[in-house]
Amino acid sequence: MAGNIKLVVCDDGAAVAPKAATIFADLIRSNPAAVIGLATGSTPEQTYADLARIHQSENLSFAQVTSFNLDEYWGLDGDHEQSYRYFMNDRLFNHIDIRPWNTHVLNGKAVNSQLECRAFEDKILSVGGVDLWILGIGGNGHIAFNEPGSSVDSPTRLVHLTQETIDANSDGRFFSDPAEVPRCALTAGIGTIRQARQIVLLATGAKKAAAIAAAIDGPFDPNCPASLLQDHPDCTFIVDREAAAELQNT
Ligand code: PGA
Repeated sequence: MAGNIKLVVCDDGAAVAPKAATIFADLIRSNPAAVIGLATGSTPEQTYADLARIHQSENLSFAQVTSFNLDEYWGLDGDHEQSYRYFMNDRLFNHIDIRPWNTHVLNGKAVNSQLECRAFEDKILSVGGVDLWILGIGGNGHIAFNEPGSSVDSPTRLVHLTQETIDANSDGRFFSDPAEVPRCALTAGIGTIRQARQIVLLATGAKKAAAIAAAIDGPFDPNCPASLLQDHPDCTFIVDREAAAELQNT
């Protein structure tokens, strides 16, 4: 059952990023003080490159935009090249005019994880909630670091990563050795993500096909965290043909 999830299937992976970038750019043009939610990983990299290009060539300003990131490795500080703070500065923030103090990435070196997570949730509330959150999806259906079994109303919290996620993030794209991957992370919860007014999930490649099929055609089930988006009022999956290959009705 697909619930409310809207599906856009692109011919190939290259067509996914421009669609996502256009959704962000349209939002920021209509609301220059938009609150955006961001993700890391390979999937959104081209979207961020496209947004940086639109900023340069079309004067799209992020000067009033506030951002929140989904997650951060526990134990890494923002200068570490594999931290998600570093990723965001490198792929997006350093190339646009967003104010650094308006970018919120959880602090992986916080003294107290609970206080850090609560402050993150409070900050989201204080700016009126997230207008649009972009997501990737893990091969096991995770969203952010909400691994299978995460509850629908889970808040921002400290979690353990599954071996599957550790292996996926040490395949040479990011860490080169599984032993280097932190075992824990701070992550926005599924409840946190579901509060965003609009959600756009991106997926490319055959490795995501089973997770996309489970999220859309499968039951509303914590064993596939992305399926917990089925009842969201404004959620769109933008995928390529390979990621759509196991869906029932495409
Ligand atoms: P990826 O990760 O974009 O690097 O495939 C997505 C995820 O694990 O959420």
